[in-house]
Amino acid sequence: MSKKFQSFKNVISHAKEYGFVFPSSEIYDGLSAVYDYGQNGVELKNNIKEYWWKSMTLFNDNIVGIDASIFMHPTTWKASGHVDAFNDPLIDNKDSKKRYRADVLVEDYISKIESKINKEVEKASKRFKETFNEDKFLETNEKVKEYKNRIKIILKRLNESLDKDNLKDVKKLIEELGIACPESGSKNWTDVKQFNLMFGTKLGASVDSATELFLRPETAQGIFVNFLNVQKTGRMKLPFGIAQIGKAFRNEIVARQFIFRMREFEQMEMQFFIPPGTQKQYYEDWKKKRLNWHISLGMGKENYRFHDHEKLAHYADAACDIEFNFPFGFKELEGIHSRTDFDLGNHQKYTGKKIQYFDPELNESYVPYVVETSIGLDRMFLSVFCNSLIEEKLEDGSLRTVLKIPKELAPNKVAILPLLKKDNLPEMAKEIFKKFRSEIKSVYDDKDAIGRRYRRQDAIGTPFCITVDHKSIEDQTVTIRERDSMKQKRVKIEKALNEITQKVSITNILKTL
Ligand code: GAP
Repeated sequence: MSKKFQSFKNVISHAKEYGFVFPSSEIYDGLSAVYDYGQNGVELKNNIKEYWWKSMTLFNDNIVGIDASIFMHPTTWKASGHVDAFNDPLIDNKDSKKRYRADVLVEDYISKIESKINKEVEKASKRFKETFNEDKFLETNEKVKEYKNRIKIILKRLNESLDKDNLKDVKKLIEELGIACPESGSKNWTDVKQFNLMFGTKLGASVDSATELFLRPETAQGIFVNFLNVQKTGRMKLPFGIAQIGKAFRNEIVARQFIFRMREFEQMEMQFFIPPGTQKQYYEDWKKKRLNWHISLGMGKENYRFHDHEKLAHYADAACDIEFNFPFGFKELEGIHSRTDFDLGNHQKYTGKKIQYFDPELNESYVPYVVETSIGLDRMFLSVFCNSLIEEKLEDGSLRTVLKIPKELAPNKVAILPLLKKDNLPEMAKEIFKKFRSEIKSVYDDKDAIGRRYRRQDAIGTPFCITVDHKSIEDQTVTIRERDSMKQKRVKIEKALNEITQKVSITNILKTL
């Protein structure tokens, strides 16, 4: 059986056709970069949340959870640096009237050079076959060295200009590289301007007295402002962490690639509070733990890599991304940041209130340092969905589309299917369904021929199908069909529930962490 991963276009249409992701308010032609999750999407999303939440709060005895509000006191965002520094450099094309992130235009240019490197690798690997050593080739090939050097020079210039807020030079770089508008091909650009990504809103009934608020651009600040509340009421000792899952909002200029970059999205963030001076050790620890969390899902070690940040955010002394191999290349899935005492220190400054921890071992008080892990739930969803959607050519030459989602994350764990819609088979299948649904997410389906029902379940990633046939009535057995291998076996009904429940439990993966 050959396998083929689907194109990104197919991923998007499959997500819609099978009730995973819909464009928001689609009957009004949608809203750019805003999406809704359908009946299967919400289940997958909830299972990813459960995997993350339990790994944080059950499998670490020093991490607790909270659920803070989206609205926060406006000074929070002054203290966090978001009012002054949460900007993207934007540029407009005068002819097409399209708006772009200036840094993304340059990064896209760099991606094209990277593709050229990949082509050289491909060519050489075909030429040298099994004697080909990719690492050595990348180090020694003159053309590749030249491409790499070019990337280094461009990135250095871009980062230096952005760090110094030298937007004139960013425009000059775009012009020097000859970057054209992807829509129109025109090189007629405006100046580069900074654009704050926070959405504003108002609190209060009357126009005069209304307070200007922001929709939170990260969930982390809800954790920082509750540091003392949790530490004191939970009698927490350092090191300890606070985890949270919730919505965040960013007025992204370039919102594209489906649910990869949205204007309303969900984050799963954990702030780990530690004594100053220990941040390097904890940063490395969390890098390892988080990579392991991803790899444990079984979607291929080779699909993840670290990318260290050269340009650090205003709050960090070290930062990296865990990147995933999406259909459009390796891109950020999760961020791990050593945030120093920046946030708690600034909240202390802006509130005038002491936000410190008394360390009984050192007999002194200090503002804790923080290592943060921050993953976008929607990006995690996309990584699972893209990686799982497979087209297989079967032995009889037919094609099947199957969503090989890790079974622990699948929206439905089992489908109960009577072979025929007669001879008391539906009645028996419904009885079995009632038993199953109180334990695991189950569906009942008696429409169409059995082959079509199997395909329908394959397409939404249901790992097991139970078929009730005439023999079931005689001897209380059913067949279990496994999604990935399509193999079937006959078992006693009372054993089936136990066997499937064990195979789909999230605890299986959690135990491997
Ligand atoms: N508290 C730190 C923070 O927010 P970030 O790197 O800006 O750091 C963390 O965001 C994660 O949130 C990213 O790795 C990504 O998975 C997700 N994310 C950020 N912006 C997003 C967007 N516009 N749409 C979907 N996910 C996004």
